[in-house]
Amino acid sequence: MRTPLTPASLIFPAFLLAVPAHAMQSGEAVYQSVCSQCHAHGTDNAPVFGDRKRWGKLVREGLNDLVPAALAGIRKMPAKGGKPELSDGEVAAAVIYMANAGGGKFAEPSADDLARWRQKADRRIKK
Ligand code: HEC
Repeated sequence: MRTPLTPASLIFPAFLLAVPAHAMQSGEAVYQSVCSQCHAHGTDNAPVFGDRKRWGKLVREGLNDLVPAALAGIRKMPAKGGKPELSDGEVAAAVIYMANAGGGKFAEPSADDLARWRQKADRRIKK
């Protein structure tokens, strides 16, 4: 039996894979356009960009904590900084950009890292 190709069946895989419709933004660009709203000045006790004391602690926690927290949201921080259209990779790049400005030395994440962080974020959201 032939499955008719409906518009919905064409669109569905894009949602399933969360393929970004736009070119991936750099961590710096995401920080400037989204994260700096709160992280430039420490709104609601957000760790301030470049504050090595605050970020030093976070850097020691590591990306396995920080990225899922940024994806899922934590206390007053909304999921993905309130911009659900950002891809997971863009949010991770912004976390790395901020963490490295605070003394971290993190490299670009692999696809495996991103998949693991997404799983952790989903577990946080369900809690
Ligand atoms: C609306 C304000 C707001 C925006 C926008 C925002 N944050 Fe946050 N962020 C916060 C606050 C508040 C905290 C502190 C949460 C706490 O520990 O109580 C925080 C904490 C964090 C932390 C530390 C998490 C931890 O484990 O303690 C990371 C990483 C982070 N933000 C990344 C980002 C990234 C990346 C972006 C941009 C995509 C972003 N934030 C945008 C408010 C914001």
